[in-house]
Amino acid sequence: MKTLRFGLIGCGLMGREFASATARWCHLVDAESRPEIVAVCNRSPGPFAWFRQNFPGIRQYTSDYRELLANSEVAAVYVALPHHLHREVYVDAIRAGKHLMGEKPFGIDLPANQAVLKALQDHSGVFSRCASQWIFFPAAQKIGRLIERSELGRILEVNTGFLHSSDLDPQKPINWKRQVEFNGEYGCLGDLGMHACVLPFRAGWKPRNVRALFSKIIPTRPDAAGQRVPCQTWDNAILLCETEDPVTGDTFPWTLKTQRIAPGQKNSWYLEILATKTSVRFSTRDPKRLELLSYSGGDQIWGEVQTGHETAYPTITGANFEFGSSDAILQMWAAFMEELQQGRPRARFAGCPTPDEAALSHRLFTAALVSHRSSQVIAL
Ligand SMILES: NC(=O)c1ccc[n+]([C@@H]2O[C@H](COP(=O)([O-])OP(=O)(O)OC[C@H]3O[C@@H](n4cnc5c(N)ncnc54)[C@H](O)[C@@H]3O)[C@@H](O)[C@H]2O)c1
Repeated sequence: MKTLRFGLIGCGLMGREFASATARWCHLVDAESRPEIVAVCNRSPGPFAWFRQNFPGIRQYTSDYRELLANSEVAAVYVALPHHLHREVYVDAIRAGKHLMGEKPFGIDLPANQAVLKALQDHSGVFSRCASQWIFFPAAQKIGRLIERSELGRILEVNTGFLHSSDLDPQKPINWKRQVEFNGEYGCLGDLGMHACVLPFRAGWKPRNVRALFSKIIPTRPDAAGQRVPCQTWDNAILLCETEDPVTGDTFPWTLKTQRIAPGQKNSWYLEILATKTSVRFSTRDPKRLELLSYSGGDQIWGEVQTGHETAYPTITGANFEFGSSDAILQMWAAFMEELQQGRPRARFAGCPTPDEAALSHRLFTAALVSHRSSQVIAL
């Protein structure tokens, strides 16, 4: 099996998820290459102890990402940093010739995203994808196959989104994800929006225009000293897009919700497609349950399929076992490695968002901000 040597920049929540995925690569039964972390970078050394304890193969520890990029052993990087750093670090990584898995939103705003896309155009030998793992849940993969086989019929309506509720607590301390300077103007849409776009974009559905409403619900939060400071980012967003299926030329409404204050929801990525032949519903709130309604005349009955561990990239796990978030992250990394190696993912819906798909999300999110400010429908 080939090894691809990785540098990890940003050793927080997602950096550690990646490291853990590399440590259980043996879970994948037919991977042709594996990632190995040989260098890590974090601004503060706090997270290094965990890496030292669990990854004796890491040879470089640094607080300066430029030192990591100068390491000739490093062939690829995973950058899991706050959004205000995406532009500089992604562009420098691409210029250094490192393959790049960049976290969403792939630039804090449209100009930052355009700079990253330009760097990729100038360095065509660099392979790059945007991280987003939820589409790898077996139910979402099944929905992808139905779309590929044109089994849905005419699409009537699509609803996708990501719902959290931890921010319902006004005492939750502020962090970079609640500050415009670090998280960006998009707020919750920059944090969660790419996940809600992945499947519609991979299906080829194109938003023509958008009307959006953003809400700020909790205006201040405690800082580390317990003082209440402004919490400037948008908490919730709802987008309604007139959307086109370029294959049929049909248009349909697509509603996209990203909410940090959705009472009762913990971490729900959901998808609903209502269509003339087969309608489908799925939410990670109930991760085994795929609902389907097939109609060919007669009664209209929603049925339920219990999905197991039927993954795009086969694993040693029993087919009836439950699938979870860390499994989705392992699948996402399997997809990155396979696409880098083979030039394409195993199936159309079994790939990470491309830079072009990330760019489309930025055009949509930027138009959504304009729509909210102007109370107008904005064309894309
Ligand atoms: N795919 C997902 O499900 C998912 C989930 C959460 C976050 N994310 C994305 O991952 C990225 C990182 O988020 P996170 O939750 O891991 O954040 P985090 O705050 O947990 O980790 C960020 C790390 O970067 C380090 N850092 C900050 N500035 C740095 C610098 N200049 N140089 C080196 N290190 C620096 C911090 O010390 C911290 O350890 C963001 O783009 C976020 O949107 C994705």
